[in-house]
Amino acid sequence: MVAVSLSRALLLAGAFARLGLAQTEPPTILAEDGAVLPADETTVAPAAEPEVVEGAGEEVLLLTDAVMANLTSLALSGIDLFAFDEDATGVTQRSANGFQVGDCKVFPGDRAWPSRLGWTVFNLLTGGALIETVPIGAVCYPNSGVYDAAKCQHVLANWAQSSLHASDPTSVMSPLYQGETCMPQNGNTGTCEMGSFPSYSVKISNVYQVQLAVNFARNQNLRLVVHNTGHDFLGKSTGAGALSIWTHNLKDIKHIKSFRSPSYDGPALKLGAGVQVGELYAAANSLGVTAVGGECAGVGVAGGYLAGGGHSPMSSKYGLGSDQVLSIDVVLPNGRFVTATETKNTDLFWALRGGGGGTFGVVTSITVKVYPKQKLAGFSMTVNAGPESENTIAVFWQAMYAYWRRFPGYAGLGVYGYSTVFPLFTAAGGYSWTFHPFMFPDMTLAQFKAQVKPLFDEWTALGLNFTPNFFEKDNLYDVWTQHFPVESVANSNIRTASRLFPASAWQNNATRDAMFDEVRAIVEEGSALIQYNMNPRQTQGTPNSAANSHWRDAVWFAIMGAGWAPGIPETELAATNNKITHNWMERLRAFGPGGYGNEGDVMEPNFGEAFFGNNYQRLLSIKREVDPNDLFWAPTAVGAERWTIQGQPDWLLTQVGKLCKISN
Ligand SMILES: Cc1cc2nc3c(=O)[nH]c(=O)nc-3n(C[C@H](O)[C@H](O)[C@H](O)COP(=O)(O)OP(=O)(O)OC[C@H]3O[C@@H](n4cnc5c(N)ncnc54)[C@H](O)[C@@H]3O)c2cc1C
Ligand SMILES: *[C@@H]1O[C@H](CO)[C@@H](O)[C@H](O)[C@H]1NC(C)=O
Ligand SMILES: *[C@@H]1O[C@H](CO)[C@@H](O)[C@H](O)[C@H]1NC(C)=O
Repeated sequence: MVAVSLSRALLLAGAFARLGLAQTEPPTILAEDGAVLPADETTVAPAAEPEVVEGAGEEVLLLTDAVMANLTSLALSGIDLFAFDEDATGVTQRSANGFQVGDCKVFPGDRAWPSRLGWTVFNLLTGGALIETVPIGAVCYPNSGVYDAAKCQHVLANWAQSSLHASDPTSVMSPLYQGETCMPQNGNTGTCEMGSFPSYSVKISNVYQVQLAVNFARNQNLRLVVHNTGHDFLGKSTGAGALSIWTHNLKDIKHIKSFRSPSYDGPALKLGAGVQVGELYAAANSLGVTAVGGECAGVGVAGGYLAGGGHSPMSSKYGLGSDQVLSIDVVLPNGRFVTATETKNTDLFWALRGGGGGTFGVVTSITVKVYPKQKLAGFSMTVNAGPESENTIAVFWQAMYAYWRRFPGYAGLGVYGYSTVFPLFTAAGGYSWTFHPFMFPDMTLAQFKAQVKPLFDEWTALGLNFTPNFFEKDNLYDVWTQHFPVESVANSNIRTASRLFPASAWQNNATRDAMFDEVRAIVEEGSALIQYNMNPRQTQGTPNSAANSHWRDAVWFAIMGAGWAPGIPETELAATNNKITHNWMERLRAFGPGGYGNEGDVMEPNFGEAFFGNNYQRLLSIKREVDPNDLFWAPTAVGAERWTIQGQPDWLLTQVGKLCKISN
């Protein structure tokens, strides 16, 4: 594996500063009177002009042809590095500063890597938004140059909380794909290495900065990454040697009382790309409406969540998160800012709703439907099973089958049934089954109890000991704040995969029971089970989208996977990882060919078919059209099969290493 250490990266940067003089002399710009001035914050303004976005009546700061013409006429050093695609023919797209590059994205240390001057001008044009990466764990390494015991303690104490990572420009919550090259540790004497961390990121506060980053990366053939919160489970928001566009700080939420499109006329919210689920729900609550978002507070709504489909507590009633989208503002690979709606840029509008993040451009804001406030009823609870628990393992499984058998029926009632099965970490062992929660919309508690009575009667007859914590609320926000879990993140020794099981698997009792037996066997072999009973069908009047067709008839979404002890031998590590992809998931593919790309396996064979279903071919052709040179790339994203990361083992694709083409 390639691993550039921090100090080595800094050394390299220094070495390159001394290479060709033309590239490294301080940048200059002409004054009005033609005098040559040093280009700095006092002489170069952010490369932006205000423009009103069509339709929304909202002002954004854009990089325009006029801005580029001005800076070109002032002969700002390096301005051609930021040219729009159609103007960039003067810059050799594949080797921006004269050096030939191979079929890989330019990597730090390559001779074609941008000069100091390029980065300096980039920083000036973005108004000082460029950040040189310091891995979040570096403060824990005495030899990193940024060691700080108190900061290290803070990182260690908050490591499992998503907010720690989301507020850092480059941290990710699945360190496995990062290469675990700078994990925070007490008294660490090792070396903090860059692993898959990007070299630089741009802290986005307005659209023009995204355009500059896109043009700069495209013109210089850099690897480009889009990073919002870092929740991604497959390593899609990180990449070695990349320039990363950090959207987390785009926090605007705007209420639109009446949004009209051919298929919709009603209230909506316009969300900046950095808005998180908790912020969306709080805003919806204060407006007295219901929004469709995920279950975890920290996930970025308009980032990877909506791009990848997005399942929600309201999905059985309103469909996927991506079904709520009315309008999308996006910076395309050619650097231009456009809006996609049902009537404008319609291919993009189709693809951006479910076709996956980091693939077609950088979304800067999204307008979504909201619904009236509504009542919900259900319960949360934990049931333990095992030799020292209130239930035997045999009863636990019978109770689970009784529950599973009812999934299609519950889906028809608008269910959100979210529960987890984890091993009991006691000497005696067993399982812990927790509902987070199980609920129906539009029901009083009395109606809810009537619906689940047959299940509860069966559980009681089986002898299951269970104590539901019932609730009845008049709005989603109260349920979500009181009956949903706070999830911990950033456990490194863990790998997950997922399956979507369609209702048709229940039509034949033998097939259905064989599916149950297989899931049970895999749990018995050591897998966790994070399961959702829901059916995010496309509701009437929702325009077609690229969302995974396997979601539409699913009534059971199951995430499975396993962890391992740190430091186990490589052969054991490979075996554990291979088992998840090629044994556990393979045994389930017969029942559920689809998986959910946002919570899927990075090694999923035929990921195009599994994660996008019958939309994949059209997605590939739109990708070719919008991004012919694959400026955007992420593992398992549309078109990902054309590139790979160098130096990877065959059982895992991390983002540590050069990104190189494998075919045309
Ligand atoms: C604890 C936890 C709970 C979760 N709960 C749910 C849930 O209830 N429902 C659900 O559907 N999913 C859930 N997920 C999965 C979640 O949808 C994905 O991890 C999602 O990709 C996160 O998006 P992000 O923008 O927050 O993360 P990031 O990791 O920052 O980005 C994810 C992907 O989106 C791309 N991206 C981000 N922003 C943009 C942008 N502005 N433009 C273009 N591309 C962009 C990135 O390049 C990357 O490919 C959960 C994940 C975790 C870790
Ligand atoms: C041209 O660019 C300079 C340098 O950034 C800036 O100070 C000036 O305001 C710009 N003029 C126009 C008309 O945009
Ligand atoms: C299939 O199983 C259900 C229980 O879920 C049962 O009611 C039904 O009779 C079974 N059908 C057949 C043909 O055995």
